[in-house]
Amino acid sequence: MALAIAIALLFQICFFTKVQSYSSLSSAEKITQLPGQPQVCFQQFAGYVSVDQKKQRALFYYFVEAEVDPASKPLVLWLNGGPGCSSLGVGAFSENGPFRPSGNVLVGNEHSWNKEANILYLESPIGVGFSYSADSSNYEGVNDKITARDNLVFLQNWFLKFPQYRNRSLYITGESYAGHYIPQLAEIMLLFNKKENLFNLKGIALGNPVLEFATDFNSRAEYFWSHGLISDTTYKLFTSACNYSRYVSEYYRGAISSVCLRVINLVTTETSKFVDKYDVTLDVCMSSVLSQSKILSPEQVAETIDVCVEDETVNYLNRRDVQQALHARLVGVKRWVVCSNVLDYELLDIEIPSIPIVGRIINAGIPVLIYSGDQDSVIPLTGSRTLVHRLAEELGLRTSTPYRVWFAGMQVGGWTQVYGNILSFATIRGASHEAPFSQPGRSLVLFKAFLEGRPLPEAF
Ligand SMILES: *[C@@H]1O[C@H](CO)[C@@H](O)[C@H](O)[C@H]1NC(C)=O
Ligand SMILES: *[C@@H]1O[C@H](CO)[C@@H](O)[C@H](O)[C@H]1NC(C)=O
Repeated sequence: MALAIAIALLFQICFFTKVQSYSSLSSAEKITQLPGQPQVCFQQFAGYVSVDQKKQRALFYYFVEAEVDPASKPLVLWLNGGPGCSSLGVGAFSENGPFRPSGNVLVGNEHSWNKEANILYLESPIGVGFSYSADSSNYEGVNDKITARDNLVFLQNWFLKFPQYRNRSLYITGESYAGHYIPQLAEIMLLFNKKENLFNLKGIALGNPVLEFATDFNSRAEYFWSHGLISDTTYKLFTSACNYSRYVSEYYRGAISSVCLRVINLVTTETSKFVDKYDVTLDVCMSSVLSQSKILSPEQVAETIDVCVEDETVNYLNRRDVQQALHARLVGVKRWVVCSNVLDYELLDIEIPSIPIVGRIINAGIPVLIYSGDQDSVIPLTGSRTLVHRLAEELGLRTSTPYRVWFAGMQVGGWTQVYGNILSFATIRGASHEAPFSQPGRSLVLFKAFLEGRPLPEAF
């Protein structure tokens, strides 16, 4: 026996993992091996699920089973934001997936979220990554409603391929503009459940989410100022003459006033383009993968500051052998890109607050976690914390865990407060907009506690 274990360890034979049985539909989508991938003991799948009757529109997924005993672990759907950025390139290959591309190979991620759950990465909506519509006119006017409905249909049809996950505990997580996608999807799931009890929804977690446009965007001024990125006088102008939500509103309508132009020019000059707005402590040389949701920072759109020449994820996902291994194809586009340049999303949807939907989800008894990488200036923790606190008051939820630190790896992982044992807020110390990228260990501790419905570690 000892010898067998030694051999199993030596050759990474997947000795203790009970392999689940699969329908013929899903076994066709099993990934044999990704190019350059280390030996692993879990199964991976990837492919398309069509979301309309005529099979014109199809969404691409990458599904990673849990490392150990997948049958006993929950199912987690992960969504990145943008709108229009890829959960495959950002979420799976840069944040919390099992591998990260490095040169010609993939290296293992020791803080992969599939240590705790079966993770389903979905490229959504159509026009993002490998997801497509055969008729490109469908890319016009895609909005939150269409996205939520397509995501719901996706899951329904995905369960046909993976029936053993049908009744599994289901969590939805994601970040940034997924602060719109996720509550909207959860709400129509709960509605669907009244007809047919299909979704065993157990919780949602939103990272640096857009929940209420004005509060989220206007907390940027104080964040910049308190981190020394702008001067006192510019701060005054940025909070009186023209605030950020007003600027973005004008920008989306193609009518920027002269006062906003003047203020934003001051802000842009002082902050400089050499600071990453998604992590104000980082140097600017960041992979373009992490400039996800640049739509949330339109003043940066004009400047393409791609000083990092090599972009490993983009290179990797554009390899023919990788696309073949993933059962992916490029439809109507020449290359896989991080954030879609064919999708024409209804950007004004960002102004419709999703925080009331979060309230309804809580009232339906579903736990919600809102977490913040505390170095992000795009959706700063201060805005999210204000919104959570306000929501708790509206719902009449009293503080069940007073504001306190939580620990990970013998250090402070961040701060947390819980209301009514159902609505949680947590920061992740030292984390960027893409928290699992910059603080993978702390993010995994938070994720695990969230799935287990347990308080964050109170001591180390
Ligand atoms: C689904 O799971 C719930 C518990 O989470 C259980 O009560 C129910 O019977 C299950 N339904 C099916 C069809 O297995
Ligand atoms: C931002 O500006 C808009 C339009 O001028 C105004 O209605 C709003 O109150 C301002 N918000 C903040 C937080 O200053």
